[in-house]
Amino acid sequence: MEEAAIRSLGKADYRGMLSFVKHTLEAGRTEGGNGSGMHQPEFGYTRYEHTKRVLGWAKRLYDLTPDKTALRYEDLMIATIFHDAGRAVSEQTGEDHAKADVLITRNWLLSNGYDPARAEYIANLVGLHSEKWRMQDPDIDRNLLMLMEADLLDDMGLLGIVMDTLIVRAGNPDATFYDCYNHYERYTHPMQHDCPVVTPEAKALWDEKTASTDRFLEQYRKDILPGGENYIGYR
Ligand SMILES: [Fe+2]
Ligand SMILES: [Fe+2]
Repeated sequence: MEEAAIRSLGKADYRGMLSFVKHTLEAGRTEGGNGSGMHQPEFGYTRYEHTKRVLGWAKRLYDLTPDKTALRYEDLMIATIFHDAGRAVSEQTGEDHAKADVLITRNWLLSNGYDPARAEYIANLVGLHSEKWRMQDPDIDRNLLMLMEADLLDDMGLLGIVMDTLIVRAGNPDATFYDCYNHYERYTHPMQHDCPVVTPEAKALWDEKTASTDRFLEQYRKDILPGGENYIGYR
């Protein structure tokens, strides 16, 4: 199924690039980093899995966007594959992961026969992907914006709920359903309603995800507070 999903991205050697990125992140893990940037050892969050999910969002956004002016599909896919490849390095050196990403991306592309100008363009997308404030710039490169929006759409919606649940348990193995409820109310819900994406296509996907989160929380409140908002059983 994974192979089919990767094949559906197109004809370029995305499989080879993904294998390289996976290996790069795993090499960092065995040398002391965890390749995740957050909580990974406790609940198995890996940057490689994140990367594949972001690829899915980037492709969806590309397909959903009617005006493809200045969009470069293959460059977007490649930048997405490499966008967090430097995580393992940065965890060991303490440098910004995007800086490490640039070197890894540029080196891979140049040593695999990509034109230097194109390699530089893609490495630049990768190097800027963390600077999410640029999303408000009306002149932002459209491929960079799409990479940023795809990056943000992961860890969101119901996946965000599952992730936050795992984070709560990783922080406290005795955490209860009620502790999860508190976390959702205090962090998950406000975070998911603080929408950073700007294009109509990304906003529609964000809203769809937020709606499922809201629906979940609406039901979960009833589950966890069977006596209503003033239920005192847990206080
Ligand atoms: Fe990143
Ligand atoms: Fe990312």
